[in-house]
Amino acid sequence: MRILIVGSGGREHALAHRLASEGNEVVCAPGNAGTALVAENVAVNADDVTGLMRFVEQQRIDLTVVGPEAPLVLGIADAFQESGHPIVGPSASAARLEGSKAFAKAFMARHEIPTARFSGFRRGELNDAIAYVRSEGAPIVIKASGLAAGKGAVVCLDLASAESTLREMLDGESFGTASDEVVVESFMEGEEASVFVLCDGVDYVMLPGAQDHKRIGDGDVGPNTGGMGAYSPAPVLTKSVLERVRHTIIEPTLSGMVEEETPYAGFLYVGLMIDAGGNPRVVEYNCRLGDPETQVIIPRIRSRLTDLLTACAEHRLGGITAELDDRSAAVVVVASNGYPASYRKGYPISGLDDVGGVATVYHAGTAESDGRVVTNGGRVLGITGLGQTLQEALSHAYDGVARIAFEGMTFRRDIGRKGLARSIS
Ligand code: GLY
Repeated sequence: MRILIVGSGGREHALAHRLASEGNEVVCAPGNAGTALVAENVAVNADDVTGLMRFVEQQRIDLTVVGPEAPLVLGIADAFQESGHPIVGPSASAARLEGSKAFAKAFMARHEIPTARFSGFRRGELNDAIAYVRSEGAPIVIKASGLAAGKGAVVCLDLASAESTLREMLDGESFGTASDEVVVESFMEGEEASVFVLCDGVDYVMLPGAQDHKRIGDGDVGPNTGGMGAYSPAPVLTKSVLERVRHTIIEPTLSGMVEEETPYAGFLYVGLMIDAGGNPRVVEYNCRLGDPETQVIIPRIRSRLTDLLTACAEHRLGGITAELDDRSAAVVVVASNGYPASYRKGYPISGLDDVGGVATVYHAGTAESDGRVVTNGGRVLGITGLGQTLQEALSHAYDGVARIAFEGMTFRRDIGRKGLARSIS
């Protein structure tokens, strides 16, 4: 098959790497220096829906797989389906589960899906929002409803920071239209984990779960990032927790979307908070795979990914399950100094050829310049290790990291610590 992958991160390299290894001809738009090793990169940006449509109209593409949320929220799946181009990704209406936090929270309330108590406010309602946070108290979570590049959720530990966050979102410009509406929700205690499912509108296949590390610094300090490392499986997602997730969250979500005439097809990523009693509640929905979580999920899927994706696009996932690898996978993200704020690009990366055999390198923010691979983003590479245990997977990933170098390279040294504590206790 000839498969188009939309996007340019580590997630897209992991997908391209796997789909190419299954004998497909892969094209990435726009891709990175890593996808260029296994696929053909084409210079069309991921959110250029018109350009992508023009591309599939001109080229023979059997299936398109969309990595990031922006083109989905813009309606790429609707446009492709209307023109008969098979695609893995939800319609714009279904992608509102990620594109509008206000929609997602109201949807969960309508379908009794467990999540934090909340209230929504629009621009012009700052005083009401402040009165609400005062009545609720801190800690409290304030979220811009629209897409905010992963920076739209703020955990406010006291009322002063909650009020200043509300002012910034509802009265300021820094979040743009993403904060025309905000969701204020109660703070949930517990441990975060994520589940991923591939859905065809009605049926779904469970994929491996994972845990991410959102903060930049060791010990979960500093600003939020897109994710600095992940591991799968997540020990907190025990068999019984996963059963509860299926019955109280995944199935009501999919049937709710059918009831509302916006059936959900594509990858669904559910961010969860698991409390001490093993009860899962939804933190957020995302209409895509996670990044870097994909770099640990894909290596743990033993079934042929091409077959799963084709069945998804053809709405015939019923009766299909994904065979999973029992081993652990861990990815450590190496980033540019300064990320997630400003950083410099263009530094040559050494050691890329020395990692093979120990771990797998997935490129994220990389480019080719004068025959060399150089840094081209905040998150530069993800180094994934596999092992019989999480400890072994982590040591392979960190062995791989030790072979890579570029100016200003930074990474977290504590990936997997929470999972290790659970696996050992
Ligand atoms: N790693 C978090 C995300 O993909 O949203």
